[in-house]
Amino acid sequence: MSKITELYQTADWKNEKHVPVITAPEKVKSEDLFDVEVAVGKEIAHPNTMEHHIAWIKLYYLAKDSDKAVEIADSRFTAHGEGDAFTEPTLKTAVKLNKCGKLIATSYCNIHGLWTSEVDITVEG
Ligand SMILES: [Fe+2]
Repeated sequence: MSKITELYQTADWKNEKHVPVITAPEKVKSEDLFDVEVAVGKEIAHPNTMEHHIAWIKLYYLAKDSDKAVEIADSRFTAHGEGDAFTEPTLKTAVKLNKCGKLIATSYCNIHGLWTSEVDITVEG
């Protein structure tokens, strides 16, 4: 039986439609609020049907020298064609950090499982 950490898949998001793509500044100032967006299917669209869709995206922050991730945001996408409504798999939030670290995104496709990506973020001042 696999550990959950072994079930997270990753790849280059330009070639793999399931990878959550994190858009955030590379450098921010301590205490300044900044925008973060995480989207699945940014380069290659992912299906959004009742049979095959992205169910959720979560965003975590891991401070440098820490081994405890902090959950920053959690978005669930619950309309996949019901009544002609579709929620696209994009999480948007605003964040304030005081230490350098990483932003880590995870996402879940109901057919293709768990996916992850991460970016480094530098916090100055
Ligand atoms: Fe999928």
